[in-house]
Amino acid sequence: MQRTVLVLAASVYQLDAIRTARRLGYRTVTVDNRPENPGHAMADASYTVDTTDRDGVLEVARRESIAGIVSPCTDVAVPTAAYVAEQLGLPGPPFKSTLITCSKSAFRGFLKAHKFACPATFDIDPTFEPEPGLFDRKWVVKPNRSSGSKGVVIVDSRASFDRALHSSLAFDPDRTGVLEEFIGGVDGTCEGFLRDGRIAFSLLLERVTAPAPHVATHGHRVPIRLSPVDRKRVLETIREVLRALDIVEGPFDCDFIVRPDDVVILEISPRLGGNSITPLVRASTGLDLTELTLRSACRDEVAIPTDVEERPAGLVLLGTSRAGVLALDLDEVERLRLESWVVYLELDATPGTAVEAFIDGRKRVGEALLTGASREQVDERAAELLRRVNVRALEAHV
Ligand SMILES: Nc1ncnc2c1ncn2[C@@H]1O[C@H](COP(=O)(O)OP(=O)(O)O)[C@@H](O)[C@H]1O
Ligand SMILES: [Mg+2]
Repeated sequence: MQRTVLVLAASVYQLDAIRTARRLGYRTVTVDNRPENPGHAMADASYTVDTTDRDGVLEVARRESIAGIVSPCTDVAVPTAAYVAEQLGLPGPPFKSTLITCSKSAFRGFLKAHKFACPATFDIDPTFEPEPGLFDRKWVVKPNRSSGSKGVVIVDSRASFDRALHSSLAFDPDRTGVLEEFIGGVDGTCEGFLRDGRIAFSLLLERVTAPAPHVATHGHRVPIRLSPVDRKRVLETIREVLRALDIVEGPFDCDFIVRPDDVVILEISPRLGGNSITPLVRASTGLDLTELTLRSACRDEVAIPTDVEERPAGLVLLGTSRAGVLALDLDEVERLRLESWVVYLELDATPGTAVEAFIDGRKRVGEALLTGASREQVDERAAELLRRVNVRALEAHV
């Protein structure tokens, strides 16, 4: 009999999971509050239920007698997946832990309580009054429960804080956020998979970000430029944090910053990473994390290779530095697609349409996955691709 997997959300970011689930032979059910989202059309059954409506999703899960539940590439749905899994005795992270990992404020409190490295942090709301002298160094304003760098801004003066505050908090359902000290260091992301409390697979990626004061992820590169000792420090810290959260099985996605004396975990979430990290992991290591995640969510046998080779690769997210009318070189896009080192190059906006500046994840206009013989070559090719596609925003004629 065909077993059913429930995929939370059905936007473009979940298509890979929905496709993979079907390819693996699972009956695939989606829930999402937007019936027009593209994933529903691919699923065997779909429901218009908000992914944060825990009891609504539980009802669907019961009705569909699901074998497993996943929340790929979306943070807000992770507690729902955990809640449903706990209620039905299916694999999933502890619900209690997901309430910590999906709240920046709660996660900072957790780091402090467990004596992990943590930047100085204030919980903020629209009435927050920064103490005088605070802005003699840089800080970061963030909405509490949000993702994709929406509303995350670096501030270095009272005036820039005041400008950022309200628009940032608008991304949080309760209008709360955090103001935390800016940390300098190597920006990285770790994509991994846990088995019986052990990190059975991990890949460290270097994160390329938008120019300050913004922080949106503009891409990832493999291998990360860290010494073997630093890599070990990162993985050790992640292991300890996951252990303290009692998360022992399944995928995780972690953003961190490496400083000379410590590793700061910015965020960690028991789900597959967004920003097309899964195709990048596949291109670099051959491992399909989506497949692993679905199979382990349904308690099917998973085989994780022990010695994974890390081939140089890069993911480039395309966007414009300011708002305007999108322009890019379509002939070059076609030529680039024929290059042996371009795995794929996709556009999700058409030249001539209005675009906003690429300051958060939703404002991207396309992406490319590329490979190289070395990290240097990956960086050169990423720069070449950006130069040749020449994505820009033109002034709108009024
Ligand atoms: N304290 C900090 N110091 C330096 N950079 C930071 C800090 N906090 C966040 N960032 C940058 O901002 C990005 C987004 O912040 P994050 O907390 O991960 O929010 P989101 O949930 O929107 O991804 C991070 O990936 C990192 O590049
Ligand atoms: Mg993040």
